[in-house]
Amino acid sequence: VKFAKPIMGEPEMNAVREVLRKAHKVPLTNGGRVRIFEEAFQMMVCGGQAIATSSCMAALHLAFMCLLKPGDEVIVPALTHPATAHAVALAGGRPVFCDAHPESGNLDPDQLPLLLSPKTKALAVVHFLGKPAYMMSCVDFARRHGLAIVEDCALALGAFHSGRHVGLIGDVGCFSFYPAKHMTTGEGGMLLTRSPELAEKAIRLRAFGYGNDRDAGIEEIGLNYRMTEIQGAIGLEQLKRLPGFLQKRLSNAEFLRDTLKSLGFNHILGRDYALSVVLDVDRDEVRKQMISVGFETSVYYPRPVPHHPVYKCSGEWPVAEMICRQSITLPVGPHLDHGHMKLQAETLAEIVNAHRARGRGGLHRPPSGPEIEGARA
Ligand SMILES: Cc1ncc(COP(=O)(O)O)c(C=O)c1O
Repeated sequence: VKFAKPIMGEPEMNAVREVLRKAHKVPLTNGGRVRIFEEAFQMMVCGGQAIATSSCMAALHLAFMCLLKPGDEVIVPALTHPATAHAVALAGGRPVFCDAHPESGNLDPDQLPLLLSPKTKALAVVHFLGKPAYMMSCVDFARRHGLAIVEDCALALGAFHSGRHVGLIGDVGCFSFYPAKHMTTGEGGMLLTRSPELAEKAIRLRAFGYGNDRDAGIEEIGLNYRMTEIQGAIGLEQLKRLPGFLQKRLSNAEFLRDTLKSLGFNHILGRDYALSVVLDVDRDEVRKQMISVGFETSVYYPRPVPHHPVYKCSGEWPVAEMICRQSITLPVGPHLDHGHMKLQAETLAEIVNAHRARGRGGLHRPPSGPEIEGARA
């Protein structure tokens, strides 16, 4: 059982062949396919302007370049991919890390007031493993303090919160089309915004800083974060399959969660991207044993971002630290079915129970109490 396996077939191959066959007359960038992909993406999420990029990291970098001045602070989850924080730093900002809520792994809104300073300009919110973050509380906090919100939706394509697709709740959303994600273009990303001004600036910065009138010259330094026509063509075909992928993922995730619960696991995070199970035995040993019997697992994430030496942060993020140290992330992708879900849950239970029987338990107790706000699709 692989953690992720992109599903590609004849439609994607034909679409790529078509782009290459016409390459002598239609350019391989800016040839029109990417724009069609952007429009199809906008329709799928029901709003906003979509701007295709070379990765989610690129989209996040553009988003923060649009929003920050040097020295601005951005509150960033400690439990995320380094890309979220790197994008802030590369745009001249300073990430200030916020701990996670133990029920979901999403940013804990109760911690936000403690992290606010006169320099705080924005809030980065990550929808952890596809489960929408506590957006009501985040939006309320951001409004009261005049902050922008950047939603990192790398793991949350297809997720809705209060009737809106994620990425359309804050000021800007960033998506990933890396191979392990809900759909893929090899590498690739999408910036989504309801702000025409932000969209215009992001489009300029995506291509060296050029505006619509190339003869007018460049007024600000941009990058080359464009998506190629080949990626756009693959993306269009993957978008057609996306409803099927999402349905399968959700069904697998619900089945896996129920099976894990019936086997006695009660601290489970995530939604349709993957499920993380917080264990009370040596997680790394369990992962080794899982792979030795054919189950590939992952860890989201191996360490809190502020623990990377580059951030030179002191401080404690106990919930993020606990999740990074104790959780194992199980796949629910569309390459798998309920049979795989049952087998991986039973195998995990067998391995964990053997560890417990040998008396190596007691590393962490799951939280008790009601789940706080956090809607589902
Ligand atoms: C939350 C989050 N943000 C951003 C990224 C980076 O995405 P990409 O590889 O498309 O740059 C990832 C990658 O997994 C991620 O998990």
